Amino acid sequence: MLDIRLLKQFTMNMSRALFIFANLFLLAHSLPTLYEYYTKDGIQAGLSDAKPYFTLNNKNITIYSGSFHYFRTPRAYWRDRLRKMRAAGLNTVTTYVPWNLHEPQTGVFDFGNGGSPFQDFLHLDEFLKTAKNEDLFVLVRSGPYINSEWELGGLPSWLAKHCRTVRNSIDAKFLYFVKRYFDVLLPLLAKHQFQKGGPIIAIQVENEYANTGRHDPVYLNTLKQMYDDHGIVEILCTCDRPSEQGRGSIPGILQTANFKVDAKGHLDMLKELQPGKPLMTMEFWTGWFDHWMDPRHHTDSVTRFRTVLEQIMDYPSSVNMYMFVGGTDFRFMNGATMSVRNFSNYLPDTTSYDYDAPISENGALTPKYYAVKEAIAQRNSIKTKLPDIPEARKLVAYPSVKVTNRILISDALLYLGKPLQSEKLLAMEQLPINNNSGQSYGYIAYRKENLDIPAGAKLTIPGYVRDTILVLVNGKLVQKPPKQLSDINGFGFWIQKDSSIVLSDKDLKNATVDLIVENFGRNTLGVFVLKGLMGDVFLNSQALNNWTIIPMEFASSWIPYQVHQQEFVDTSTNSAIHKFKIHIQGDPQDTYLDMREWSKGIVTVNGFVLGRYFFLGPQQALYLPAPLLRNGDNDIVVFEHFKAPEMLKFIDRAVYETPGGLYH
Ligand SMILES: *[C@@H]1O[C@H](CO)[C@@H](O)[C@H](O)[C@H]1NC(C)=O
Ligand SMILES: *[C@@H]1O[C@H](CO)[C@@H](O)[C@H](O)[C@H]1NC(C)=O
Ligand SMILES: *[C@@H]1O[C@H](CO)[C@@H](O)[C@H](O)[C@H]1NC(C)=O
Ligand SMILES: *[C@@H]1O[C@H](CO)[C@@H](O)[C@H](O)[C@H]1NC(C)=O
Ligand SMILES: *[C@@H]1O[C@H](CO)[C@@H](O)[C@H](O)[C@H]1NC(C)=O
Repeated sequence: MLDIRLLKQFTMNMSRALFIFANLFLLAHSLPTLYEYYTKDGIQAGLSDAKPYFTLNNKNITIYSGSFHYFRTPRAYWRDRLRKMRAAGLNTVTTYVPWNLHEPQTGVFDFGNGGSPFQDFLHLDEFLKTAKNEDLFVLVRSGPYINSEWELGGLPSWLAKHCRTVRNSIDAKFLYFVKRYFDVLLPLLAKHQFQKGGPIIAIQVENEYANTGRHDPVYLNTLKQMYDDHGIVEILCTCDRPSEQGRGSIPGILQTANFKVDAKGHLDMLKELQPGKPLMTMEFWTGWFDHWMDPRHHTDSVTRFRTVLEQIMDYPSSVNMYMFVGGTDFRFMNGATMSVRNFSNYLPDTTSYDYDAPISENGALTPKYYAVKEAIAQRNSIKTKLPDIPEARKLVAYPSVKVTNRILISDALLYLGKPLQSEKLLAMEQLPINNNSGQSYGYIAYRKENLDIPAGAKLTIPGYVRDTILVLVNGKLVQKPPKQLSDINGFGFWIQKDSSIVLSDKDLKNATVDLIVENFGRNTLGVFVLKGLMGDVFLNSQALNNWTIIPMEFASSWIPYQVHQQEFVDTSTNSAIHKFKIHIQGDPQDTYLDMREWSKGIVTVNGFVLGRYFFLGPQQALYLPAPLLRNGDNDIVVFEHFKAPEMLKFIDRAVYETPGGLYH
């Protein structure tokens, strides 16, 4: 017989459970989106700093933001990274805008499909739309200077042709070029402003200006005027270390802070600088970047990160985590730290800009990601709907492939660029090419033919090589490949002043000498130091004149494939181009190229330069995202300076190693 009591009990329990479950379900699904919460009754006001706390459209807001640079991640992955940011509870994405990519030649702009090698990364309009689509606000750090460990701090190298100095009002030419660029950039940003129905809630002007040590209100105010002239109505801000006493600030514009530790100390100072204003930490450093030759890959404890993050939030201050999404400095876009007083103190940054960020270079979520998600969930009293975390993407190691072609670099030179004749050596920036913008990136070759070289003759290069040089006689590399860190002090690298090398131990008639110089990344402070060689080089005491100069830009259209397969010359210790073919069946997957058996050079995937590698590490593998590959045959071409293995290997993870025993 049925026990009525038990049945009743069971039914009650069931209905209670159902009730609770339904409520939870409703709660989760009735939460407004961010845009519904802030704009459902129309837009009356943008982000305001009029009170000691931020309001957006007259509602309180704490900015929970992360830095994600669209130019460091393939366009096909923007949505994935943005959704992951939103899923962590962030309400804002912050990005820099790199002038050097958007105006690759003077007066020639690329905001997507503009024909530059980077064109697919430059759809800023689409990035802003996607951010809004993914329910995020945007904070734009518009430059003109950005630093960001980026080539010349984001300035176009062609400015060197026109301006004596940059980022000031001393040389009116600089502001002229900024205005010409901003006349294109600012209207694009203006139409995506929050008060016009777009995602942009604030714009940063310049970047860490106090760092220049200059006081130039004319410069900063002229910039500010440009935003006003283009109808920018959202609030503007500057960012600096608060210890710099507001020296980079602009009157009437919000100051924000950059730091890694001691939240209280920095925020106390910021508060003192502008009493009554809301606090914003523009760069809370989540990790750090690597230089080539660093003793180890920078990582940083989750505990330190979470502790400081919570101190910032509890102070309370709004926050942007720099970086939130790690990325890649594709092509030749890494910058370099450099002392402009001592050229030996030059440290180029690695290809990977992983930064030990909450979302890694390959899109994986790290423990820092979950720490952020928890910290925000515990504090943000404004509950809005968050997406599920997108599924993790698979990483694979494709089978190794054997080299199919090799070409000595000296035999490929004339296919790599259009030769120019010049009496004197010219630096990259001085070449009359690219609508007179010069050469910005890559390598440059200086060729001298019909040269008689007596046995023991020395080639001498006055001054510094900027930044590395390969010396080839009749296609053969003269210098020894470097084997350890101390070899960087020798011939061929940036450290030696007035360096020289013996070209041949026997008499040579009618020889061809090629000097191939690499721009290893311009300094991130935006100070001009021209790349390549200038003036004279000497064969014994004789100055060599009349050069053939070949810019090796490795633009998307470079076609080493035209060079036919060669009788294999000894490439084991020569500068050469090595071609590999990999066949992929179906959709390509993310992978890494394992470069541990290589020495120094660049890798090109289907015509696009993936980036540099260097045996001294710490980075030893190059992230190769699937969007750069295709279903079917793929060409991978490596330009190796010194010596190459037979095989190209893949791996399914990042590799950080430094050759043993070199670092102390
Ligand atoms: C907005 O924040 C301020 C400062 O925390 C608080 O005093 C105020 O009550 C908040 N307003 C609303 C509507 O929550
Ligand atoms: C060349 O540069 C000038 C400005 O210096 C610019 O106005 C012009 O559009 C450019 N021309 C081409 C063909 O790129
Ligand atoms: C320049 O820097 C190098 C490397 O740090 C150092 O060895 C050298 O002494 C410096 N030279 C001067 C003149 O300061
Ligand atoms: C010098 O070498 C070039 C090839 O590099 C050759 O074409 C030319 O005939 C040679 N000239 C003499 C005088 O040997
Ligand atoms: C360089 O070339 C020019 C023109 O061909 C010639 O007049 C000059 O003598 C050459 N200079 C040297 C040093 O060979």
